[in-house]
Amino acid sequence: MKDRDKRQSIIDACLRMNALGINQGTSGNISIRYGDGLLITPTSTPYETMRPEQIVHMGLDGSHDPAQRPSSEWRFHRDILKARPDVKAVVHAHPTYCTALAIMGMEIPPVHYMVACAGGDTIRCAPYATFGTQELSDHAVRALEGRLACLLAHHGMITTGPSLAKAMWLAVEVETLARQYHASLQLGKPPLLSKEEIEKVRVHMAGYGHAEG
Ligand code: 13P
Repeated sequence: MKDRDKRQSIIDACLRMNALGINQGTSGNISIRYGDGLLITPTSTPYETMRPEQIVHMGLDGSHDPAQRPSSEWRFHRDILKARPDVKAVVHAHPTYCTALAIMGMEIPPVHYMVACAGGDTIRCAPYATFGTQELSDHAVRALEGRLACLLAHHGMITTGPSLAKAMWLAVEVETLARQYHASLQLGKPPLLSKEEIEKVRVHMAGYGHAEG
C-alpha cells in the first residue's frame, strides 16, 4: 500500500468507527505502524474533513513535523507499538457500553466465549489517569499485557491488532461483548466460563475465522 493509501485507510477507519456507532465526534484516534515509526490521526479534527496529509508521521521517540498536531493520545499509541512487536494498529474510541463498564471500573469477565478474541480470559480495565498523559499510557500498556484490548477507567477502550482491519473488527466485537455483559447483569449475576475453557477457545480460534494473526 502506498503512503497516501495508508493515510486514507486511517481516515476511512475513523469514519467507519463513527458510522458503526462505536465512537462519537472526534473522541477516538487511530494509529498504524509505519516503517520505524507510526502514522497517527491529528488531534481534534472532524473525520469528515480530515485529509491524508493531515495524518501525522511520528518517530518512536515522539518526533514529528512541528507544523502538525498529533492526537493528544500519541503516547499510548507510540508506547503500545513500541512494547508490542505483534501489534500493527491501535484503535481508541469511547463506545457507550465499554465506557459505561469503564466508568464503574469493571473489566469484562469470561461471560461469553468471544472474550477469548482479545487474547485471554478477561478484558482488563486500566486505572484512570488524565487523558494524554504518560501515566495513562503506562496503565494502558500494562492492561494490554497478553491481550489485544482493554478498557480505560472513566474514559473508553483500546483495541489493537496485526492489521487495522483486525483492530477495527475487535473494536466492534469488544463493544458487543460489553453490551452483552451489561444486558446479562440486568438479569442477575452472570455465570462465568472457566480460564481453561477460554484457553481452549483461543487455541480453537487460531484455526478459524476469528484468528488473531
Ligand atoms: P484527540 O482528538 O487528541 O485524538 O483526542 C481524543 C481523545 O480520545 C482523548 O482521549
